[in-house]
Amino acid sequence: MPLVSMRQLLDEAAKGGYGVGAFNVNNMEQIQAIVGAAKETNSPVIIQASRGARKYAEDKYLFHLILAANELHPDVMIAMHQDHGNSFDTCKSAIELGFTSVMMDGSLKDDGKTPSSFEENVEVTRRVVEFAHERGVTVEGEIGVLGGVEDGHGAGGSGLEHITDPDQAVEFAERTGVDALAIAIGTSHGAYKFNKKPDGSVLKMDVLIAIHEHLPHTHLVMHGSSSVPKELQDIVNQYGGHLNPTWGVPVEEIQLGIRNGVRKINVDTDNRLALTGAIRKVFAETPEKFDPRDYLKPARDAMQKLVALRMTQFGQAGHGKDYTPLTIADMAEGYRSGKLDTRPSMAAH
Ligand code: G3H
Ligand code: 13P
Ligand code: ZN
Repeated sequence: MPLVSMRQLLDEAAKGGYGVGAFNVNNMEQIQAIVGAAKETNSPVIIQASRGARKYAEDKYLFHLILAANELHPDVMIAMHQDHGNSFDTCKSAIELGFTSVMMDGSLKDDGKTPSSFEENVEVTRRVVEFAHERGVTVEGEIGVLGGVEDGHGAGGSGLEHITDPDQAVEFAERTGVDALAIAIGTSHGAYKFNKKPDGSVLKMDVLIAIHEHLPHTHLVMHGSSSVPKELQDIVNQYGGHLNPTWGVPVEEIQLGIRNGVRKINVDTDNRLALTGAIRKVFAETPEKFDPRDYLKPARDAMQKLVALRMTQFGQAGHGKDYTPLTIADMAEGYRSGKLDTRPSMAAH
């Protein structure tokens, strides 16, 4: 089967009441780990590449590696998503390359750092939706701003500075027609999210629940959703790394989100930690080794184990073959006919 539409994966997840992990990739081993975990757990999956990943790997390499995964494992439903597109042109180039989904992160200006105005965000996101939907491609927007900076992307600061306003989220969904909406509820990208186990004062699950009540037909997306488990921090530190103590988003909070409209959960940092811990262990225990396969294989295995666990925790495990995938042309027709219109005023009818 060809790469599938992210919108279809999320619509099915909403019917089934589960979430779908969206895992970032930069290289072959990460793609193999994700697809291996999807096979192992019978899960549909979203594979995503940031701008940094597209630049690092040269995006054609990444795209063709994903096509290879698709050819080798045609039974795994894979949506290929642009993570944090900063401009119309970034999203357009991803679509032209063959991505089946894009995120237009108009919460920041195209420098990827400065918070934009609501009107600027609406305008650029609406333009991407028009271009993407004509081609059957899914669009995720963002309203509110996450904390932290990853690879130059992010406004910095804590995740509490630009929490999403539920009324604004409704207006944004109405004026843009996005398929999915990333919201800011106190999380940040990267390892340093919270300095103790988060409670409601820093992780605003109440805001998420209010947004879902205001906007029941829009799929919500949780970014910055690595749990940064202590076990993974410990492995990195045990073998010569230096991570300061930190807390991520507890899995039970993500599961609460999934019960309240969250359908896509973005995870990158946990996988980075799993890979790095496994590599450091080989280096520390067998310093005589220098064949990259000797450390990349355990790294890939560690990431696959973690992704499989998250797929089970998010509930997507077991749902890999529940439905027949639609083609991107089918999706384009669905958008054209209005059948896939989720703007609040349309979805209410
Ligand atoms: O958005 C954050 C993801 O972890 C991607 O990070 O921009 O360093 O590739 P990156
Ligand atoms: P983490 O840094 O928590 O893994 O978040 C990843 C993310 O949101 C990618 O868009
Ligand atoms: Zn993100």
